[in-house]
Amino acid sequence: MPLTSPWRADFPGILNLADEGQTYLDSAATAQKPQIMLDALLGYYASGAANVHRAQHLPGERATRAFEATREKAAQWFNVADAQQIIFTRSATEAFNLLAYGLESQFQAGDEIAISAVEHHANLLPWQQLALRHQLKLVVLPLTETGLIDLKQAAQLITPRTRLLALSQLSNVIGAWQPIQPLLALAKAQGALTVVDGAQGVVHGRHDLPALGCDFYVCSSHKLYGPDGVGLLYGRPQALNSLKHWQFGGEMLLNTDYHSAHFRPAPLGFEAGTPAIASVIALGASLDYLNGLDANAVAQHEAELHAELLNGLQQVQGVKVLGQPEVALVSFVVEGVHSADLAHLLTEQGIAVRAGHHCAMPLLQSLGVNGAIRVSLGLYNDSSDLQRFFTSLDQALELLQ
Ligand SMILES: Cc1ncc(COP(=O)(O)O)c(C=O)c1O
Repeated sequence: MPLTSPWRADFPGILNLADEGQTYLDSAATAQKPQIMLDALLGYYASGAANVHRAQHLPGERATRAFEATREKAAQWFNVADAQQIIFTRSATEAFNLLAYGLESQFQAGDEIAISAVEHHANLLPWQQLALRHQLKLVVLPLTETGLIDLKQAAQLITPRTRLLALSQLSNVIGAWQPIQPLLALAKAQGALTVVDGAQGVVHGRHDLPALGCDFYVCSSHKLYGPDGVGLLYGRPQALNSLKHWQFGGEMLLNTDYHSAHFRPAPLGFEAGTPAIASVIALGASLDYLNGLDANAVAQHEAELHAELLNGLQQVQGVKVLGQPEVALVSFVVEGVHSADLAHLLTEQGIAVRAGHHCAMPLLQSLGVNGAIRVSLGLYNDSSDLQRFFTSLDQALELLQ
């Protein structure tokens, strides 16, 4: 039976793109948004925009309340007891940069930072550059043939010299869950700080961050059916207290004179200047929307989409799927076909997939490919989208092979 999505009509972007003949299969880059979130975004401006945490007047108080309500909702989403453990940044990328600057003074030349070979540039470059600034060593945990971090080798590479371990929960290329829990435990046993890149993982299922046991967890709103311009940084209280302030300006301070200042603790001490007020408020609406869905129905829909996508690809001659994806986020190459040529033909037929290195150049190099096509699906996708994709793929390959 063809799979339909009961939530499709909630996403005007998907419907409008379909009217234009576009099939959107790039949700891992950014997801379409539910109407309730668009209403909240407009509602903030239409009811009278105001800055947060500074004005006593009614619009200012209303904006501050709505802004802080999202912090509470995000804390509940992650089962975090105290919402003050959630910092709003401009993106996941900014959160990694905050960490790389905020933790800088805790490293000494010769210390090691461990990441894995699967990391997105956002969880590679801030650490790479930190290592270059302070003569630290960046250790890259290798992968097994299936694309998961090799636990045996990791156990050799995570040592007392490891001061920080930063790993992605779910690869944005391979779509597989990494075995992060034993790795976090290894790092903890060596006294290292731990950072989890949840940019993709956060979209699939619910994650109990205190139970996960990391010091920091990073994700962004726009992949979680929320607006862009907002990233989330969770930290354990002790880890947050150890962060050095990194951006300076309005609202992040307790007091200052011309020559010195005292700063606020997290979260406000790390939210200098006017934040993305409308977007933070609208993220709260997206979380309300997701909270209102039947989690089992969502999980089943995602599992069925994943199976249909993978089975379909396995039947196409010459297709090689990268790794062993466990969610509907699948990258592939086709023997004898350049992925840029294939992407071009798919684009011409209105199929919106991602092609290229997916911001993970070293990973693609280590997999021996210089580009791949990625199909990533959201709540709103259904069999009709996949049928259009497979028909277009067949037609494109007929021309190219
Ligand atoms: C695994 C992973 N980490 C980090 C990021 C960076 O997220 P953002 O672009 O929202 O800062 C992405 C974005 O694609 C990602 O897929």
